[in-house]
Amino acid sequence: MPPHVFYTTPALRLVVGAPASIDTDVLVVPVFAGEADGAPDLPDALAEPVAAWRATRELKAEPYEAHWLTVAGIAATRVLVMGAGPDTAATPDFARRFGVAAGLAVRARGYGRAAILTRGALQGEAIVRGLSEGLTLAAFHVDAYKTRDRKLADLVSAAIVAGEGGATTLADAVAHGAALGEATNVARAFAHEPPNVLTPKVLAERTQELFAGTSIQVDVLDETQLRGLHMGLLLGVAQGSTHVPRLIVLTYSPERAAGPVLGLVGKAVTFDTGGISIKPAENMDRMKYDMCGGAAVIGAFHALARVGAPSKVIGIIPAVENMPSGSAFRPGDVLTGASGLTVEITNTDAEGRLILADALWYAQKLGATHLVDVATLTGACAVALGRVASGLFGAPDRWREAVQEAGARGGDFLWPLPMTDDYKDLLKSDIADMVNAAGTRYGGAISAALFLKAFAGDTPWAHLDIAGTAWADEAKAYQPKGPTGVAVRTLVELARSAGAWV
Ligand code: BES
Ligand code: MN
Ligand code: ZN
Repeated sequence: MPPHVFYTTPALRLVVGAPASIDTDVLVVPVFAGEADGAPDLPDALAEPVAAWRATRELKAEPYEAHWLTVAGIAATRVLVMGAGPDTAATPDFARRFGVAAGLAVRARGYGRAAILTRGALQGEAIVRGLSEGLTLAAFHVDAYKTRDRKLADLVSAAIVAGEGGATTLADAVAHGAALGEATNVARAFAHEPPNVLTPKVLAERTQELFAGTSIQVDVLDETQLRGLHMGLLLGVAQGSTHVPRLIVLTYSPERAAGPVLGLVGKAVTFDTGGISIKPAENMDRMKYDMCGGAAVIGAFHALARVGAPSKVIGIIPAVENMPSGSAFRPGDVLTGASGLTVEITNTDAEGRLILADALWYAQKLGATHLVDVATLTGACAVALGRVASGLFGAPDRWREAVQEAGARGGDFLWPLPMTDDYKDLLKSDIADMVNAAGTRYGGAISAALFLKAFAGDTPWAHLDIAGTAWADEAKAYQPKGPTGVAVRTLVELARSAGAWV
């Protein structure tokens, strides 16, 4: 995303050949918990030192446990023996995490070139794809605004080392993993930007830059056009800010597209102060990441441009800033959205659902037959599910399940929350069609989802609440602090598997 560089995309390649002769700074060798007698499939130069190391019992082979060796007789400068747990746990998800952990460990030691040896249970197409996705994710860094004391070296090149056989499919798997990893990094890079830099207008401009010269069409609607479409809910949220709103529309239209049109809608509040219903000062800076839903949609299109999908996909990203000011909307206001429904504002901090409502309407107007929205929508969802699962809502059941399965295949953990008619009273208004915020905090993620459902009508619709999962507060071996890029993989997987859910 020039000129705003957050990561060097590592030149990622598949190397078929002898591990001892790989030209790299660090050769990463996974070892498994069950391998009591060392690693028989390793060449002698590596097998002996690994076995000797194992014999010290220092090496437990727990996931991501790192041991650095210097090994004579191999081309790599250093060997990183990395624990991979029991081989029964070697899933594609684990491979992705292993790739991240390996790449980050290499960068932390000051090296820029890494190669991961595939061996034991970490082999085959799906694993190679995960490893290469992980290595690409590991290249992302959050110190673009640091002028000194940068902690990690740039990962400039990375390789997956595999034995003979299936070289072409493995090369495809490497490319596919890299495309997914990069799409996620695109989402993370947007999310990382501070709110003074990334205003709605800048988000739109950078999206246009990102897709210039690709198969993705970008249309940006300005205020006048939004007024023409009567998007009173989106405009109501935006009116307190000096930064003008934008509606970003992305289109991926393959030749001979048949069947469904997937509509992906992503909340992009570039900063959420809460508006007149202002948030407390503590941690308010985090609200720069209130645009992660929109960033996930942009990231997903970045992957679609590279790896394709069988049917048409449109992306709608309402981008606003939610500020308190003399021109801000207020509690008590009644706003009318593009769909014609009227909304009594009871809390200006429930702004995400308002901008999504107009965007969901627009997605249908553009022909979407199936909808998914992604949003950092409610603190209540983070309270309910913690930082592990994203909240999932939707109707009909079959569509919600298809989205959940796409998440599971792609590597996002989505968990359904209920949304039955018994909850409906939460949004009753005495004077308008509905209120924007229920009078109680209880069931806050559910009332927000119910609000959105009113604007999805009868179109199959699913909603991902990523308030708890879009940002990592604690560093893990496989996920540094900062934006996670959650939901990108789900959206890509869903688009690519259109045949399965129609
Ligand atoms: N952007 C917030 C939700 C959020 C909270 C995301 C914490 C990430 C971390 C959203 O706009 C919001 O303020 N929601 C309110 C809704 C309430 C006023 C009904 C909330 O969750 O408190
Ligand atoms: Mn809010
Ligand atoms: Zn918000």
